[in-house]
Amino acid sequence: MKFLPVFAACLGMMVAASCAQTEKKQVTENQVIETIMARRSIRKYKPEAVNRETMAQILDCGINAPSGMNKQSWEVRVVDDPAVMDEIIAAMAAGNPDVAPEMVRGCFRNAPTMVFIANDPSYDCSPIDCGLLSENIMLSAWSLGVGSVCLGSPVRFLKNAPAALERLGFSEGYTPIICIGLGYADESPEAKPRDPSKVRYVE
Ligand SMILES: Cc1cc2nc3c(=O)[nH]c(=O)nc-3n(C[C@H](O)[C@H](O)[C@H](O)COP(=O)(O)O)c2cc1C
Repeated sequence: MKFLPVFAACLGMMVAASCAQTEKKQVTENQVIETIMARRSIRKYKPEAVNRETMAQILDCGINAPSGMNKQSWEVRVVDDPAVMDEIIAAMAAGNPDVAPEMVRGCFRNAPTMVFIANDPSYDCSPIDCGLLSENIMLSAWSLGVGSVCLGSPVRFLKNAPAALERLGFSEGYTPIICIGLGYADESPEAKPRDPSKVRYVE
């Protein structure tokens, strides 16, 4: 009987050690955190478009992002047909005669699947809604082995290209705010540096 307290103490230590291990395991093997930390912008892609089954999952993750008052104040158009992409690029080049056509094409980084996202400018949270949708798209894509890059520059050219906007067919009142290029990565870029000093507790 006198060994009972010693046995109980040993058991307690074993349980505590195993809990500590579980906690460590959760931190090092958390797939969400791993995906967030491993994602990189990809600017070189293999030519094939992302298969539509995979895209369906990625887009579903996109629209499951939070949005202000659940307004889902976004519209999304996906182009994975090179012929359609050529039409849009040609219309964008025509609408921006001062810009070299190769620059207009280059702004899409040759991503074989392009997601165009439009926001509702009458709602002040709409850019945030679209940003959250975009991040969900990029992170879910990465977790499924699909690379991506967030692209602001096409939006500048789209603004002057009514024929391209018509082809994309956004509803009245929706304006493109960001594009996400997606595809299978043909490069493995290093992580870009981050500045942790931008974050601090207020105490
Ligand atoms: C709003 C926004 C606009 C961006 N526009 C472009 C762009 O037009 N072209 C481009 O190559 N990358 C663009 N990027 C990607 C950033 O350059 C990239 O996220 C940043 O350098 C950090 O690198 P990382 O994504 O690999 O962590 C954009 C990113 C964001 C969030």
